[in-house]
Amino acid sequence: MATVALVSRPASVLPKISSSCSSAIQYASSVSTVQQRKLHHALIPKGKGGRSSSSGIAATVFGATGFLGRYVVNRLGRIGSQIIIPHRCDQYDIMYLRPMGDLGQLIFMEWDARDKDSIKRALEHSNVVINLVGREWETRNYRFEDVYVTIPQQIARAAREAGITKFIHMSHLNADITSPSKYLRNKAVGETAVRDEFPDAVIMKPSEMFGREDKFFNHYANMRWFGNAIPLIALGKKTVKQPVHVRVKYLNSSIFPGCFLLFSPNRYLLHDLVEYIYAVAHRPFMPYPLPRPLYHLASRFFSMSPFEPWITPDKVDRFHTTDMKYPGLPGLEDLGITASTVEQKAIEILRRHRRFRYLEADLNEAKPAKTVSY
Ligand SMILES: NC(=O)c1ccc[n+]([C@@H]2O[C@H](COP(=O)([O-])OP(=O)(O)OC[C@H]3O[C@@H](n4cnc5c(N)ncnc54)[C@H](OP(=O)(O)O)[C@@H]3O)[C@@H](O)[C@H]2O)c1
Repeated sequence: MATVALVSRPASVLPKISSSCSSAIQYASSVSTVQQRKLHHALIPKGKGGRSSSSGIAATVFGATGFLGRYVVNRLGRIGSQIIIPHRCDQYDIMYLRPMGDLGQLIFMEWDARDKDSIKRALEHSNVVINLVGREWETRNYRFEDVYVTIPQQIARAAREAGITKFIHMSHLNADITSPSKYLRNKAVGETAVRDEFPDAVIMKPSEMFGREDKFFNHYANMRWFGNAIPLIALGKKTVKQPVHVRVKYLNSSIFPGCFLLFSPNRYLLHDLVEYIYAVAHRPFMPYPLPRPLYHLASRFFSMSPFEPWITPDKVDRFHTTDMKYPGLPGLEDLGITASTVEQKAIEILRRHRRFRYLEADLNEAKPAKTVSY
């Protein structure tokens, strides 16, 4: 089963790797790391690798309260890691994270992204730092420059100064300084800023992610509220997408500094992908071509919402950007991971978009989306 992994898992908790390594060496290396960073003895790896064991990882996960965050926290928690979760919301809003770790293993603390001391406090006892901070739209307080450049830069700097050995930064597959999307342009600048501050950072570049709480499949499926009419630039026949499932099993100890690409094995035309979403949801698919300027105009109206905007001009551009190919960079298959395909996982997300009488309908009735190779 495919799944995404952000976790640098020490060899001692990977049975197949631990068998090939001397446990004494592992213990010694963990002790030296612990002594050097003055970490608590509870961080010495022990146990069989389950939720109640100790993986030796103390990870600070910035942005843990988001879509991807819960999967990362759960993955870390189930191997027995200590997880520090900086948050800015009410603690009752993140109660759902609590069962993901053993008793006392999840530590919640308030933070302010503009306060350098609160960043330092959040990571001073960790050996892994993961940055998942992101926002799909700009607010009066935080522009894309703040969210994707300044905040990652501050976190990377604090991590370097604290002597953290592993820093994982979440970027985007299409991060590009020439992109029409401001989100993607800032992601590209953010990658460079992080590299400058923390040269050994691991930069993950996922394509659009799909999962139960995603804002990609659910976004298109929810368009049925507008009478099933789906606006797509050039009918979505000029955009190629290669979305990845959010739950990737693990990025194990082989994870080394550099960039990693996270995408599923298949590429689809946006038109075919959305058609498949509607086929699985048992809803009529009625796409219509909308020119980019008109789409921007309409989405500008939605972006005035004081709450989470349904769509913004930037999101229109991002969703209609063809997923890039980087022949030189390692992907999931280089880490020995087989990613789940859209066809395997779509039903998990889309069943709730079905009408009652189709809730249990067979998935086989939906013809798989046509794949493309370009
Ligand atoms: N989802 C995708 O398809 C996708 C694809 C490629 C890359 N990515 C990247 O992966 C990362 C995680 O994505 P996601 O979908 O999990 O994002 P998300 O659901 O929007 O969550 C973002 C997290 O960042 C926090 N955050 C945002 N602005 C903040 C600020 N100014 N100060 C403090 N915390 C802030 C949010 O905290 P609150 O809950 O308090 O708002 C939340 O915990 C992002 O960097 C995103 O750009 C996502």
